[in-house]
Amino acid sequence: GAAPVALRQLIPAELLERGEGCPFDPAPGLRGLRGQGAVQPLELGNGARAWLVTGFAEAREVMGDLRFSSDRVRYRDATQMGADEVAAQAGAPVCPVPVEARADGMFIFMDPPEHTRLRRLLTGQFTVRRMKALEARVTEIAVEHIEAMRAAGTGADLVPAYALPIPSLVICELLGVDYGDRGSFQENTAIALSSASTDEERARAGGELYGFIARLIAAKRVEPGDDLISGLIHDADPPLTDAQLIDLTLVLLGAGHETTANMLALGAFALLENPEQLAALRADPELVDQAVEELLRYLSIIQLGVTRVATQDVTVGGVDIPAGATVVLGVPEVNRDPRHWDDPDRLDLRRERAPHLAFGHGVHQCLGQQLARIEMRIGFTELFTRLPGLRLATPATEVPLRNDMLIFGVHSLPVAWD
Ligand code: HEM
Repeated sequence: GAAPVALRQLIPAELLERGEGCPFDPAPGLRGLRGQGAVQPLELGNGARAWLVTGFAEAREVMGDLRFSSDRVRYRDATQMGADEVAAQAGAPVCPVPVEARADGMFIFMDPPEHTRLRRLLTGQFTVRRMKALEARVTEIAVEHIEAMRAAGTGADLVPAYALPIPSLVICELLGVDYGDRGSFQENTAIALSSASTDEERARAGGELYGFIARLIAAKRVEPGDDLISGLIHDADPPLTDAQLIDLTLVLLGAGHETTANMLALGAFALLENPEQLAALRADPELVDQAVEELLRYLSIIQLGVTRVATQDVTVGGVDIPAGATVVLGVPEVNRDPRHWDDPDRLDLRRERAPHLAFGHGVHQCLGQQLARIEMRIGFTELFTRLPGLRLATPATEVPLRNDMLIFGVHSLPVAWD
Protein backbone atom coordinates (compact mmCIF):
# COMPACT_ATOMS: atom_id res chain seq x y z
CA GLY A 1 0.00 0.00 0.00
CA ALA A 2 0.88 3.67 0.10
CA ALA A 3 3.69 4.90 2.35
CA PRO A 4 2.32 6.08 5.68
CA VAL A 5 2.00 9.81 6.22
CA ALA A 6 3.95 11.10 9.24
CA LEU A 7 1.95 12.57 12.09
CA ARG A 8 4.16 15.63 12.40
CA GLN A 9 3.21 16.69 8.85
CA LEU A 10 -0.41 16.99 9.89
CA ILE A 11 0.17 19.80 12.35
CA PRO A 12 0.32 23.27 10.79
CA ALA A 13 3.71 24.75 11.52
CA GLU A 14 6.40 26.27 9.36
CA LEU A 15 4.28 27.30 6.40
CA LEU A 16 2.07 29.40 8.57
CA GLU A 17 4.98 30.76 10.56
CA ARG A 18 6.30 32.12 7.27
CA GLY A 19 2.93 33.73 6.67
CA GLU A 20 2.08 31.39 3.79
CA GLY A 21 -1.20 29.59 3.36
CA CYS A 22 -4.48 30.29 5.10
CA PRO A 23 -4.31 30.05 8.89
CA PHE A 24 -7.83 28.62 9.00
CA ASP A 25 -7.21 25.74 6.58
CA PRO A 26 -6.17 22.26 7.72
CA ALA A 27 -2.40 21.82 7.90
CA PRO A 28 -0.92 21.47 4.40
CA GLY A 29 0.08 17.87 5.15
CA LEU A 30 -3.49 17.02 6.09
CA ARG A 31 -5.15 19.02 3.31
CA GLY A 32 -2.73 17.47 0.84
CA LEU A 33 -4.34 14.08 1.43
CA ARG A 34 -7.63 15.30 -0.07
CA GLY A 35 -8.78 13.12 -2.95
CA GLN A 36 -6.82 10.18 -1.61
CA GLY A 37 -8.27 7.37 0.49
CA ALA A 38 -10.56 8.31 3.39
CA VAL A 39 -8.57 5.98 5.69
CA GLN A 40 -4.78 6.13 5.42
CA PRO A 41 -1.81 4.57 7.15
CA LEU A 42 -0.17 6.93 9.60
CA GLU A 43 3.24 6.84 11.27
CA LEU A 44 3.38 8.14 14.82
CA GLY A 45 6.36 9.92 16.35
CA ASN A 46 8.00 6.76 17.67
CA GLY A 47 7.63 5.03 14.30
CA ALA A 48 4.56 3.03 15.31
CA ARG A 49 1.85 2.46 12.72
CA ALA A 50 -1.62 3.93 13.17
CA TRP A 51 -4.54 4.92 10.93
CA LEU A 52 -5.77 8.36 9.96
CA VAL A 53 -9.38 9.02 8.96
CA THR A 54 -10.06 12.02 6.68
CA GLY A 55 -13.48 11.10 5.23
CA PHE A 56 -16.67 12.43 6.81
CA ALA A 57 -18.74 9.24 6.49
CA GLU A 58 -15.84 7.10 7.69
CA ALA A 59 -15.15 9.35 10.71
CA ARG A 60 -18.82 9.21 11.69
CA GLU A 61 -18.68 5.45 11.36
CA VAL A 62 -15.62 5.14 13.63
CA MET A 63 -17.05 7.53 16.25
CA GLY A 64 -20.34 5.61 16.26
CA ASP A 65 -18.83 2.10 16.44
CA LEU A 66 -18.13 0.76 19.94
CA ARG A 67 -15.58 -1.69 18.56
CA PHE A 68 -13.40 1.40 18.65
CA SER A 69 -12.49 2.09 22.27
CA SER A 70 -11.79 5.36 24.07
CA ASP A 71 -10.14 3.50 26.98
CA ARG A 72 -6.57 4.76 26.85
CA VAL A 73 -5.67 3.20 30.18
CA ARG A 74 -6.68 -0.35 29.28
CA TYR A 75 -5.34 -0.34 25.73
CA ARG A 76 -2.24 1.67 26.39
CA ASP A 77 0.01 -1.39 26.58
CA ALA A 78 -1.47 -3.00 23.49
CA THR A 79 -0.78 0.07 21.44
CA GLN A 80 1.80 2.05 23.40
CA MET A 81 -0.06 4.88 21.72
CA GLY A 82 -3.09 6.98 22.15
CA ALA A 83 -4.15 10.50 22.74
CA ASP A 84 -1.21 11.23 24.97
CA GLU A 85 1.20 10.28 22.24
CA VAL A 86 -0.63 12.48 19.78
CA ALA A 87 -0.67 15.27 22.33
CA ALA A 88 3.02 14.85 23.09
CA GLN A 89 3.70 15.10 19.36
CA ALA A 90 1.72 18.28 19.23
CA GLY A 91 3.48 19.50 22.36
CA ALA A 92 0.22 19.95 24.21
CA PRO A 93 -1.02 18.92 27.61
CA VAL A 94 -4.53 17.47 27.30
CA CYS A 95 -5.21 17.33 30.99
CA PRO A 96 -3.34 18.56 34.04
CA VAL A 97 -3.37 15.09 35.65
CA PRO A 98 -1.31 12.13 34.32
CA VAL A 99 -3.26 9.34 32.65
CA GLU A 100 -2.43 6.68 35.27
CA ALA A 101 -4.08 8.79 37.96
CA ARG A 102 -7.29 9.23 36.07
CA ALA A 103 -8.99 5.87 36.28
CA ASP A 104 -11.75 6.89 38.70
CA GLY A 105 -14.03 9.22 36.82
CA MET A 106 -12.30 10.23 33.59
CA PHE A 107 -15.28 8.98 31.60
CA ILE A 108 -14.06 10.66 28.41
CA PHE A 109 -11.47 7.83 28.41
CA MET A 110 -13.94 5.05 29.29
CA ASP A 111 -16.15 2.71 27.31
CA PRO A 112 -19.71 1.66 28.10
CA PRO A 113 -20.96 0.47 30.56
CA GLU A 114 -18.59 2.39 32.94
CA HIS A 115 -18.83 5.43 30.71
CA THR A 116 -22.63 5.31 30.56
CA ARG A 117 -23.37 5.81 34.25
CA LEU A 118 -20.99 8.73 34.76
CA ARG A 119 -22.02 10.45 31.54
CA ARG A 120 -25.70 10.09 32.45
CA LEU A 121 -25.11 11.58 35.87
CA LEU A 122 -23.40 14.54 34.28
CA THR A 123 -25.92 15.11 31.45
CA GLY A 124 -28.59 15.07 34.17
CA GLN A 125 -26.93 18.20 35.60
CA PHE A 126 -27.15 20.14 32.32
CA THR A 127 -30.81 20.95 32.93
CA VAL A 128 -32.82 23.51 30.97
CA ARG A 129 -33.19 25.55 34.16
CA ARG A 130 -29.46 25.60 34.86
CA MET A 131 -28.64 26.45 31.23
CA LYS A 132 -31.16 29.32 31.27
CA ALA A 133 -29.57 30.72 34.42
CA LEU A 134 -26.10 30.34 32.92
CA GLU A 135 -27.21 32.08 29.72
CA ALA A 136 -28.05 35.21 31.71
CA ARG A 137 -24.69 35.02 33.50
CA VAL A 138 -22.78 34.52 30.22
CA THR A 139 -24.33 37.76 28.92
CA GLU A 140 -23.36 39.62 32.10
CA ILE A 141 -19.82 38.26 31.98
CA ALA A 142 -19.40 39.12 28.26
CA VAL A 143 -20.78 42.65 28.69
CA GLU A 144 -18.67 43.31 31.82
CA HIS A 145 -15.50 42.34 29.98
CA ILE A 146 -16.30 44.42 26.91
CA GLU A 147 -17.12 47.44 29.06
CA ALA A 148 -13.82 46.99 30.91
CA MET A 149 -11.99 46.90 27.56
CA ARG A 150 -13.79 50.08 26.41
CA ALA A 151 -13.07 51.85 29.66
CA ALA A 152 -9.36 51.06 29.26
CA GLY A 153 -8.94 52.45 25.72
CA THR A 154 -9.49 51.63 22.06
CA GLY A 155 -7.42 48.48 21.77
CA ALA A 156 -6.81 45.20 23.62
CA ASP A 157 -5.60 41.64 23.31
CA LEU A 158 -8.84 39.73 22.92
CA VAL A 159 -7.45 36.46 24.33
CA PRO A 160 -6.78 37.52 27.96
CA ALA A 161 -9.39 40.31 27.89
CA TYR A 162 -12.32 38.29 26.58
CA ALA A 163 -11.85 34.80 25.14
CA LEU A 164 -10.19 33.16 28.16
CA PRO A 165 -12.19 34.72 31.03
CA ILE A 166 -15.62 33.88 29.57
CA PRO A 167 -15.35 30.06 29.62
CA SER A 168 -13.29 30.17 32.81
CA LEU A 169 -15.91 32.18 34.69
CA VAL A 170 -18.73 30.10 33.20
CA ILE A 171 -17.11 26.97 34.62
CA CYS A 172 -16.78 28.74 37.99
CA GLU A 173 -20.52 29.46 37.82
CA LEU A 174 -21.28 25.87 36.88
CA LEU A 175 -19.15 24.41 39.68
CA GLY A 176 -20.18 26.97 42.30
CA VAL A 177 -16.69 28.45 42.87
CA ASP A 178 -16.85 31.44 45.26
CA TYR A 179 -16.03 34.85 43.78
CA GLY A 180 -13.05 35.25 46.12
CA ASP A 181 -11.45 32.04 44.80
CA ARG A 182 -11.95 32.75 41.12
CA GLY A 183 -8.74 34.66 40.54
CA SER A 184 -6.44 31.86 41.66
CA PHE A 185 -8.70 29.25 40.05
CA GLN A 186 -8.43 31.01 36.68
CA GLU A 187 -4.71 31.51 37.03
CA ASN A 188 -3.95 27.89 37.94
CA THR A 189 -6.18 26.59 35.15
CA ALA A 190 -4.40 28.78 32.63
CA ILE A 191 -0.95 27.61 33.80
CA ALA A 192 -1.95 23.94 33.98
CA LEU A 193 -3.34 23.98 30.45
CA SER A 194 -0.73 26.15 28.76
CA SER A 195 2.09 24.82 26.59
CA ALA A 196 4.05 27.93 27.54
CA SER A 197 4.35 26.60 31.12
CA THR A 198 7.28 24.47 32.18
CA ASP A 199 6.61 20.93 33.44
CA GLU A 200 7.26 22.16 36.98
CA GLU A 201 4.85 25.08 36.67
CA ARG A 202 2.22 22.80 35.20
CA ALA A 203 2.66 20.24 37.94
CA ARG A 204 2.43 22.88 40.66
CA ALA A 205 -0.65 24.56 39.15
CA GLY A 206 -2.26 21.17 38.53
CA GLY A 207 -1.57 20.17 42.13
CA GLU A 208 -3.08 23.38 43.48
CA LEU A 209 -6.12 22.96 41.26
CA TYR A 210 -6.51 19.37 42.42
CA GLY A 211 -6.34 20.45 46.07
CA PHE A 212 -8.75 23.30 45.47
CA ILE A 213 -11.29 21.03 43.80
CA ALA A 214 -10.97 18.47 46.60
CA ARG A 215 -11.69 21.21 49.16
CA LEU A 216 -14.56 22.52 47.04
CA ILE A 217 -16.15 19.06 46.97
CA ALA A 218 -15.69 18.63 50.72
CA ALA A 219 -17.37 22.01 51.27
CA LYS A 220 -20.30 21.11 48.97
CA ARG A 221 -20.82 17.85 50.84
CA VAL A 222 -21.33 19.85 54.04
CA GLU A 223 -23.15 22.80 52.57
CA PRO A 224 -24.74 22.06 49.18
CA GLY A 225 -25.53 24.91 46.79
CA ASP A 226 -27.35 25.29 43.49
CA ASP A 227 -24.30 24.15 41.51
CA LEU A 228 -23.35 21.10 39.48
CA ILE A 229 -21.08 19.52 42.12
CA SER A 230 -23.82 19.71 44.75
CA GLY A 231 -26.24 18.25 42.19
CA LEU A 232 -23.91 15.33 41.47
CA ILE A 233 -23.47 14.64 45.19
CA HIS A 234 -27.23 14.75 45.72
CA ASP A 235 -28.32 12.74 42.67
CA ALA A 236 -25.80 9.88 42.51
CA ASP A 237 -27.03 6.58 43.89
CA PRO A 238 -24.79 4.77 44.78
CA PRO A 239 -22.86 7.88 45.87
CA LEU A 240 -19.83 9.07 43.92
CA THR A 241 -16.44 8.85 45.60
CA ASP A 242 -14.34 11.97 46.06
CA ALA A 243 -11.92 10.65 43.44
CA GLN A 244 -14.77 10.30 40.94
CA LEU A 245 -16.10 13.78 41.70
CA ILE A 246 -12.63 15.27 41.29
CA ASP A 247 -12.20 13.54 37.94
CA LEU A 248 -15.62 14.65 36.67
CA THR A 249 -14.73 18.21 37.59
CA LEU A 250 -11.36 17.96 35.88
CA VAL A 251 -12.98 16.55 32.72
CA LEU A 252 -15.30 19.56 32.56
CA LEU A 253 -12.41 21.90 33.13
CA GLY A 254 -10.13 20.21 30.60
CA ALA A 255 -12.83 19.86 27.96
CA GLY A 256 -14.73 23.11 28.37
CA HIS A 257 -12.18 25.82 28.97
CA GLU A 258 -9.58 26.02 26.22
CA THR A 259 -11.90 24.68 23.54
CA THR A 260 -14.41 27.48 23.98
CA ALA A 261 -11.72 30.13 24.52
CA ASN A 262 -10.04 29.22 21.25
CA MET A 263 -13.32 29.09 19.35
CA LEU A 264 -14.09 32.61 20.57
CA ALA A 265 -10.69 34.07 19.66
CA LEU A 266 -10.11 32.16 16.43
CA GLY A 267 -13.75 32.66 15.42
CA ALA A 268 -13.42 36.42 15.88
CA PHE A 269 -10.19 36.33 13.83
CA ALA A 270 -11.85 34.35 11.03
CA LEU A 271 -14.81 36.75 10.89
CA LEU A 272 -12.53 39.79 10.82
CA GLU A 273 -10.61 38.20 7.95
CA ASN A 274 -13.86 37.55 6.04
CA PRO A 275 -15.41 41.04 6.07
CA GLU A 276 -18.30 40.20 3.74
CA GLN A 277 -19.33 37.38 6.08
CA LEU A 278 -19.03 39.63 9.12
CA ALA A 279 -21.09 42.28 7.33
CA ALA A 280 -23.80 39.67 6.69
CA LEU A 281 -23.82 38.80 10.40
CA ARG A 282 -23.97 42.45 11.44
CA ALA A 283 -26.83 43.07 8.99
CA ASP A 284 -28.76 40.06 10.25
CA PRO A 285 -28.02 39.20 13.90
CA GLU A 286 -30.35 36.19 13.62
CA LEU A 287 -27.62 34.60 11.53
CA VAL A 288 -25.52 34.04 14.65
CA ASP A 289 -26.63 30.45 15.30
CA GLN A 290 -25.68 29.48 11.76
CA ALA A 291 -22.44 31.43 12.12
CA VAL A 292 -21.53 29.41 15.21
CA GLU A 293 -22.11 26.10 13.41
CA GLU A 294 -20.18 27.21 10.33
CA LEU A 295 -17.25 28.44 12.43
CA LEU A 296 -17.21 25.14 14.33
CA ARG A 297 -17.00 23.28 11.02
CA TYR A 298 -14.58 25.65 9.32
CA LEU A 299 -12.15 25.93 12.23
CA SER A 300 -12.45 22.39 13.71
CA ILE A 301 -10.11 23.41 16.51
CA ILE A 302 -9.65 19.89 17.94
CA GLN A 303 -7.14 18.99 15.30
CA LEU A 304 -6.01 15.43 15.95
CA GLY A 305 -7.31 15.07 19.49
CA VAL A 306 -10.10 12.56 18.86
CA THR A 307 -8.54 9.11 18.80
CA ARG A 308 -9.74 5.55 19.29
CA VAL A 309 -8.22 2.06 19.57
CA ALA A 310 -9.65 -0.85 17.55
CA THR A 311 -10.60 -3.64 19.98
CA GLN A 312 -10.96 -6.12 17.08
CA ASP A 313 -10.31 -6.20 13.35
CA VAL A 314 -12.66 -3.70 11.68
CA THR A 315 -12.98 -2.65 8.03
CA VAL A 316 -13.67 1.05 7.47
CA GLY A 317 -13.93 2.63 4.03
CA GLY A 318 -12.59 -0.61 2.55
CA VAL A 319 -9.45 -0.51 4.70
CA ASP A 320 -8.74 -3.26 7.24
CA ILE A 321 -7.84 -1.85 10.63
CA PRO A 322 -6.32 -4.55 12.85
CA ALA A 323 -7.17 -5.09 16.52
CA GLY A 324 -4.99 -2.95 18.77
CA ALA A 325 -4.42 -0.21 16.18
CA THR A 326 -4.74 3.44 17.10
CA VAL A 327 -7.07 5.47 14.90
CA VAL A 328 -6.63 9.26 14.69
CA LEU A 329 -9.58 11.28 13.42
CA GLY A 330 -8.41 14.17 11.23
CA VAL A 331 -11.40 16.33 12.12
CA PRO A 332 -10.30 19.55 10.30
CA GLU A 333 -10.18 17.63 7.01
CA VAL A 334 -13.21 15.46 7.88
CA ASN A 335 -15.26 18.64 8.21
CA ARG A 336 -14.11 19.73 4.74
CA ASP A 337 -14.68 16.45 2.94
CA PRO A 338 -15.72 17.58 -0.58
CA ARG A 339 -17.95 14.50 -0.85
CA HIS A 340 -19.99 15.96 2.00
CA TRP A 341 -19.74 19.74 1.55
CA ASP A 342 -19.89 22.08 -1.45
CA ASP A 343 -16.97 24.46 -1.67
CA PRO A 344 -15.67 23.20 1.70
CA ASP A 345 -12.81 25.69 2.12
CA ARG A 346 -15.17 28.67 2.03
CA LEU A 347 -16.47 30.21 5.24
CA ASP A 348 -20.14 30.67 4.36
CA LEU A 349 -22.45 31.61 7.19
CA ARG A 350 -25.47 31.05 4.96
CA ARG A 351 -24.43 27.52 4.10
CA GLU A 352 -27.29 25.06 4.22
CA ARG A 353 -27.37 23.51 7.68
CA ALA A 354 -25.74 20.11 7.84
CA PRO A 355 -24.28 18.24 10.79
CA HIS A 356 -20.53 18.61 11.32
CA LEU A 357 -18.25 16.55 13.53
CA ALA A 358 -16.57 19.36 15.48
CA PHE A 359 -18.35 18.10 18.63
CA GLY A 360 -17.71 14.47 17.74
CA HIS A 361 -20.42 11.84 17.35
CA GLY A 362 -21.73 8.79 19.17
CA VAL A 363 -21.61 8.04 22.89
CA HIS A 364 -18.80 10.54 23.56
CA GLN A 365 -20.31 13.42 21.59
CA CYS A 366 -19.51 16.68 23.37
CA LEU A 367 -21.48 16.87 26.55
CA GLY A 368 -21.01 20.61 26.87
CA GLN A 369 -22.09 21.53 23.35
CA GLN A 370 -25.26 23.28 24.48
CA LEU A 371 -23.24 25.46 26.85
CA ALA A 372 -20.47 26.00 24.29
CA ARG A 373 -23.08 27.21 21.78
CA ILE A 374 -24.53 29.63 24.33
CA GLU A 375 -21.06 31.04 25.07
CA MET A 376 -20.24 31.47 21.38
CA ARG A 377 -23.61 32.92 20.39
CA ILE A 378 -23.51 35.52 23.16
CA GLY A 379 -19.74 36.01 22.93
CA PHE A 380 -19.79 36.88 19.20
CA THR A 381 -23.01 38.91 19.38
CA GLU A 382 -21.84 41.17 22.20
CA LEU A 383 -18.36 41.53 20.71
CA PHE A 384 -19.51 42.69 17.29
CA THR A 385 -22.37 44.90 18.48
CA ARG A 386 -20.64 46.64 21.41
CA LEU A 387 -17.31 47.35 19.74
CA PRO A 388 -18.03 49.39 16.59
CA GLY A 389 -15.35 49.27 13.93
CA LEU A 390 -13.67 46.27 15.55
CA ARG A 391 -10.58 45.35 13.55
CA LEU A 392 -7.24 43.59 13.83
CA ALA A 393 -4.54 45.84 15.27
CA THR A 394 -1.75 43.85 13.64
CA PRO A 395 -1.26 42.34 10.16
CA ALA A 396 -3.08 38.98 10.01
CA THR A 397 0.19 37.18 9.24
CA GLU A 398 1.59 38.36 12.58
CA VAL A 399 -1.15 36.92 14.75
CA PRO A 400 0.63 34.21 16.78
CA LEU A 401 -1.11 30.92 15.99
CA ARG A 402 -1.27 28.02 18.41
CA ASN A 403 -0.24 25.62 15.69
CA ASP A 404 1.92 23.55 18.03
CA MET A 405 -1.05 22.57 20.17
CA LEU A 406 -3.65 19.87 20.21
CA ILE A 407 -6.31 22.56 20.25
CA PHE A 408 -5.79 25.05 17.46
CA GLY A 409 -6.23 28.75 18.07
CA VAL A 410 -4.33 31.96 18.66
CA HIS A 411 -2.00 32.88 21.52
CA SER A 412 -3.11 36.48 21.29
CA LEU A 413 -5.36 38.60 19.09
CA PRO A 414 -4.59 42.32 19.18
CA VAL A 415 -7.69 44.29 18.14
CA ALA A 416 -8.76 47.93 18.01
CA TRP A 417 -12.11 49.69 17.78
CA ASP A 418 -13.43 53.21 17.18
C1 HEM B 1 -16.32 15.74 24.43
C2 HEM B 1 -15.43 19.35 21.30
C3 HEM B 1 -16.84 22.61 24.62
C4 HEM B 1 -17.42 19.04 27.83
C5 HEM B 1 -16.00 16.43 23.28
C6 HEM B 1 -15.61 15.81 22.03
C7 HEM B 1 -15.35 16.82 21.15
C8 HEM B 1 -15.58 18.08 21.84
C9 HEM B 1 -14.89 16.67 19.71
C10 HEM B 1 -15.56 14.30 21.74
C11 HEM B 1 -14.25 13.65 22.15
C12 HEM B 1 -14.19 12.18 21.76
O1 HEM B 1 -15.09 11.65 21.10
O2 HEM B 1 -13.19 11.53 22.10
C13 HEM B 1 -15.72 20.54 21.95
C14 HEM B 1 -15.59 21.86 21.33
C15 HEM B 1 -15.99 22.78 22.27
C16 HEM B 1 -16.37 22.04 23.46
C17 HEM B 1 -15.11 22.14 19.91
C18 HEM B 1 -16.08 24.28 22.20
C19 HEM B 1 -16.46 24.95 21.18
C20 HEM B 1 -17.17 21.94 25.78
C21 HEM B 1 -17.68 22.53 26.99
C22 HEM B 1 -17.81 21.52 27.92
C23 HEM B 1 -17.42 20.28 27.24
C24 HEM B 1 -17.99 24.01 27.20
C25 HEM B 1 -18.30 21.52 29.33
C26 HEM B 1 -18.54 22.54 30.08
C27 HEM B 1 -17.15 17.86 27.19
C28 HEM B 1 -17.15 16.57 27.85
C29 HEM B 1 -16.82 15.61 26.88
C30 HEM B 1 -16.63 16.34 25.63
C31 HEM B 1 -17.47 16.33 29.33
C32 HEM B 1 -16.70 14.09 27.08
C33 HEM B 1 -18.00 13.42 26.76
C34 HEM B 1 -17.90 11.90 26.84
O3 HEM B 1 -16.80 11.34 26.78
O4 HEM B 1 -18.96 11.27 26.97
N1 HEM B 1 -15.99 17.81 23.14
N2 HEM B 1 -16.17 20.69 23.22
N3 HEM B 1 -17.03 20.58 25.96
N4 HEM B 1 -16.83 17.69 25.85
FE1 HEM B 1 -16.62 19.19 24.51
